[in-house]
Amino acid sequence: MVKRLRKAVLPVAGLGTRFLPATKAMPKEMLPVVDKPLIQYAVDEARAAGIEQFCMVTGRGKTALIDHFDIAFELEATLAERSKREALMLLRSEAMPPGSITTVRQQVPLGLGHAIWCARSFIGQDPFAILLPDDLVLSQTPCLQQLADVYHETGGNVVAVTEVPHEQTNRYGILKIGATTANRVEVEGLVEKPDPADAPSNLSIIGRYILLPEVVEFLSMMERGAGNEVQLTDAMAKMIGHAPFHGLKFEGQRFDCGDKAGFLEAQIAFALARPDLGPAVREFLKKYINA
Ligand code: UTP
Repeated sequence: MVKRLRKAVLPVAGLGTRFLPATKAMPKEMLPVVDKPLIQYAVDEARAAGIEQFCMVTGRGKTALIDHFDIAFELEATLAERSKREALMLLRSEAMPPGSITTVRQQVPLGLGHAIWCARSFIGQDPFAILLPDDLVLSQTPCLQQLADVYHETGGNVVAVTEVPHEQTNRYGILKIGATTANRVEVEGLVEKPDPADAPSNLSIIGRYILLPEVVEFLSMMERGAGNEVQLTDAMAKMIGHAPFHGLKFEGQRFDCGDKAGFLEAQIAFALARPDLGPAVREFLKKYINA
């Protein structure tokens, strides 16, 4: 019997150096795309895929992320007093059920794999999702739901994958591809940030995963990989052959919001997709494109 997917880990302990000075006193994951912080896109996507329990792996200076999901009592009282019904309803509709978010600290940012290992008590013996909030996906069906559908069918590990330019494989976790059917590929191997000359393909993992709890055992070995960090990709590679492992070429467009150009593109794409903003944005963009 395949265990239902109910848990998600959100690693948010990175330093966000590519966004300095914006991230000097504010977590990268609080940067808004249009009017919603990145962290909330991740939580909304996860809840839409049936996730009920969240664990944020935080670090120093990340308190705003936890406060964001608290009830802002004074703000709500003021909005009610001033009859700002719409704003009040928005806040209330997004409130998280009590006890649904837990946090652990990653004291030193030793890598994504180490961040996930820090959540081991939360993970326990259950399958779990990982969402990296700086990867945003604009899609018809939420990206994690697409992965969850594959997980519930196969009962194995599933990662979201996309093609990247061959010369950029040294920035990503790359798949060695096995049998392929439609948008699903069997994962035969995984390598973190390979040199383009050694890369087994140009299919890269993006920040959406569904993993079996056994990955924690492999993370416990604390082996250092690319960049001298404890790499999640290396621990996942050790699970190949023990359980089904698939890459899903998801439907939708991915934006790397950890990168300035990717972040700006996401602003435009998400604004254009909004009925309340799209027409105005389309109009003013013409001004800059024709200049
Ligand atoms: P990034 O590689 O984007 O690193 O991490 P970063 O520190 O956030 O940003 P830059 O490169 O300095 O600008 C990918 C994800 O892994 C988390 C980050 O928070 C982000 O969600 N992460 C990374 C951790 O939680 N801990 C780590 O030790 C490393």
